[in-house]
Amino acid sequence: MKRFNILGISGSLRPDSTNTVILRAFEAFLPANTNFKIFHGLDEIPHFSPGLDDTAAVTAFKTAIQQADGVIICTPEYAFGVPGTLKNALDWTVASGDLNDKPVSAVSASPLNTGGEKALASLLLTLTALGTRKNDDSSLSIPNIKHKIDANQQVSDQETLVALRHQIDNLLAIIAS
Ligand SMILES: Cc1cc2nc3c(=O)[nH]c(=O)nc-3n(C[C@H](O)[C@H](O)[C@H](O)COP(=O)(O)O)c2cc1C
Repeated sequence: MKRFNILGISGSLRPDSTNTVILRAFEAFLPANTNFKIFHGLDEIPHFSPGLDDTAAVTAFKTAIQQADGVIICTPEYAFGVPGTLKNALDWTVASGDLNDKPVSAVSASPLNTGGEKALASLLLTLTALGTRKNDDSSLSIPNIKHKIDANQQVSDQETLVALRHQIDNLLAIIAS
């Protein structure tokens, strides 16, 4: 049976990030023939400028993407946009095309009832510019996230768990297509 690699990227650097909790929750829904890895190291990626050589951190980021059959990005919204750290990392992949044709799922989680929808919309535009493979079901905005995670840092809200499972099923269907 073919094995699949799924890469998770959190747009938050906080150790107790709610978006990273969401990312970890995806693992429970992955089939046995799937490896799931969360990329740690976004904070080591230097500021992008065209013409700069890749550093070791940039190479690690690009390699993780290249080795993935699909990528899930979970991000908070900062000032109505995508956190600069995440956007900066994605900018490094524009010229090299590492995300071109890559199946993706994009998720935003926020303590507000807007669910980080502006950051999600912006992220989806960037993922379109990067040539990723996605469809109308490839994104999810999660409002009021702090009420959906329990004291053990587990997603406890059933509706959210169903929506996360749907993201995984949709991503795997895009990978298989
Ligand atoms: C500088 C800053 C700006 C923020 N701007 C927004 C915002 O525009 N929209 C929003 O929904 N939440 C905003 N927040 C709240 C974040 O959504 C919240 O801190 C969230 O928990 C961060 O995600 P994390 O738990 O994954 O780190 C902001 C937080 C910070 C620190």
